[in-house]
Amino acid sequence: MNILAIETSCDETALCIMEAEKNEGEISFNLLSNILHSQIKEHEKYGGVFPSLAKREHARRIVPLLKEVVDNSKLSGKSNNIDVEKFRDKFNGLFSHEENLSDELLSFLKENNRPDIDLIAVTEGPGLEPALWVGINTAIALSIAWRIPVMPVNHLEGHIASVVFDPEENKTLPFPIFPSLALIISGGHTEMIKMNDWGSYKYIGGTLDDAVGEAFDKVARMIDIPYPGGPKIAQLAEEARETREKGERADFSFPRPMINSGDNNFSFSGLKTSAMYKIKEMEHPLSDKTKRMISRELEEAITETLLSKVSKVIENEDVSSLIISGGVSANQHIKNEFKKLSLKYNIPFHIPHIKITTDNAVMIALSSAIRSIYSKEKFSVGEKIEAKGNLEIV
Ligand code: KG4
Ligand code: ZN
Repeated sequence: MNILAIETSCDETALCIMEAEKNEGEISFNLLSNILHSQIKEHEKYGGVFPSLAKREHARRIVPLLKEVVDNSKLSGKSNNIDVEKFRDKFNGLFSHEENLSDELLSFLKENNRPDIDLIAVTEGPGLEPALWVGINTAIALSIAWRIPVMPVNHLEGHIASVVFDPEENKTLPFPIFPSLALIISGGHTEMIKMNDWGSYKYIGGTLDDAVGEAFDKVARMIDIPYPGGPKIAQLAEEARETREKGERADFSFPRPMINSGDNNFSFSGLKTSAMYKIKEMEHPLSDKTKRMISRELEEAITETLLSKVSKVIENEDVSSLIISGGVSANQHIKNEFKKLSLKYNIPFHIPHIKITTDNAVMIALSSAIRSIYSKEKFSVGEKIEAKGNLEIV
């Protein structure tokens, strides 16, 4: 089965074509082409992602990227034979409340053959609704034009599914053993989910306010690091660990929020506020050393908080494997500490390859393949899909 996957939930316009096969009960994947355009530069000056700008950028990029991903996949095209004008009426009639089909997409359909694809998968949420609609409308239009079923995919399930594939080696990785505990840590989410199987989830706990990625990004902004600040904080924290070995110490520390709350929830806005007050008291402009110290203290406060809550769940629930995914799982310190934790509890540990840790289309393809192969759900041509900004996983 060949899948075209589209992801536009936030600030990455991402598409891929993935082959997925089931042999002797196991699924194997073969990535045929993969493309991603990041809008980070466009959003940097706003200190976060600006929804209407994200939508405009997705709309501007999606058709050229679609052409590239189809061309790169080398899937032999069949003649299209569609009456484009009739198709335009059909599409615009169906989705009159939303935008009309772009002339660019119509030209693409006229000029290109229908590729050998069996399923179109698109992120329906959670995310920024104006941004999600760009991917959804494109997916539905292609579904109708090419007569291929279209499946909505939950972005969070995508982050979880990202752990079963290595895009660099184009290799399928071991699947998690169930029940598995999945910790999703990203710019918008901090959630612990117990997976009894693919598609069978129980909510264990999550953030009551800010997400982990938000804490990284907001504190980064306070020390003049542009959005998204997580990777730069990680780099400074790493440098600070090296200088600590040479005796460089911080004369402050940040709180470990809710570490003794007795429940499975997180709260990162208090940590952010505490950092804000501490930073205000410091001598300005901040020295490089101070920025390194802030980064390390922040990273360590976050990591310890996550470790403490996850440990408690592993101890109290039946957990046979551990999954950490979402953009923040790119953090090397967090990775190292959770690897140690999984060794301590002697359970397999799954984390996405660095190339598919932040938002991408490969994870959407993986999730849709697993779902269609395991659950045998059927989706139709032109399936009605709506953008769901606050979609949850359970
Ligand atoms: O999953 P993702 O690409 O988008 C969402 O679905 O939110 O995650 C983006 C988040 C941002 O907050 C970014 O700062 C954070 O992941 N991030 C990191 C690192 N790399 C990305 N945070 C800490 N350390 C990193 N190395
Ligand atoms: Zn994400």
